[in-house]
Amino acid sequence: MSEHVNVSDEGGIRTVRINRPDKKNALTMAMYDVMTNALESASISDAIRCVLIAGVPGTFSAGNDMGDFLAATQGTGRWSAQALRFLPALVHCKKPLVAAVSGVAVGIGTTMLLHCDYVAVATDARLSTPFVGLGLVPEAASSLLAPRMMGQRRAFELLVMGHVFDAAAAKECGIANIVVAPEDVDAAGLKAAREIAALPPGAVAAARALMRGSGDELEARIALEGKHFNERLQSPEAKAAFEAFFSRKR
Ligand code: COA
Repeated sequence: MSEHVNVSDEGGIRTVRINRPDKKNALTMAMYDVMTNALESASISDAIRCVLIAGVPGTFSAGNDMGDFLAATQGTGRWSAQALRFLPALVHCKKPLVAAVSGVAVGIGTTMLLHCDYVAVATDARLSTPFVGLGLVPEAASSLLAPRMMGQRRAFELLVMGHVFDAAAAKECGIANIVVAPEDVDAAGLKAAREIAALPPGAVAAARALMRGSGDELEARIALEGKHFNERLQSPEAKAAFEAFFSRKR
């Protein structure tokens, strides 16, 4: 359980709202658990036809909780089992995934969007994956999905150089379908989710499965990235980066 992720169902749409604004919606183990359960149970529910992932105004998610990353460098050096459950749940979710993104979307806050079927971003959206700057490697199969989606050079800029993509860049590179005003982003996500929910569900499922394939390739890439990620978590580079994040305000 986590009070920082709200899951609600209405009209065949499950909304998974990340809601930890004081920490920029950084994702803790408990939050991953709630999100994973929401995706897994949506997959096997006849009543749910679409899942909408949303944040709070000005914040989609600042990514994995840096405290958990720091703990991983000091403890087992392994990324959390909870986070690693969330990734296959994204890959194998049987229901269309829609995201409504305003403000910051960092790390997994961006890479989860690569698994979504429709993404609405607000004009204030700022997408980034500063993995390499943190001494880490990309995750969530982004090392496979991003080059395919936007080409090697733009993917390198995003995943390795850590450049921030604004809303226009997100649309131009194929991450986002639509750019709207910040106050309209939830409505844009909901509109798309309703449109999807109104389609014949069997045909949606079959068409989507044809487009996405089995997910085996993505799972294999997630496992490979995870191996490197865990090795990188042990590195002095990563430990120094996480400590720097927490010491910057002291
Ligand atoms: N994990 C844990 N706490 C986080 C966090 C994260 N990923 N991102 C932000 N926070 C916390 C901050 O520590 C701060 O907490 P405090 O008020 O107790 O000091 C609070 O959220 C607000 O963050 P702040 O940095 O003051 O907001 P900002 O608007 O200046 O910057 C970000 C927002 C997202 C750009 C910045 O917080 C950031 O870079 N976060 C780290 C993102 C990241 O690298 N994630 C991992 C990717 S692999």
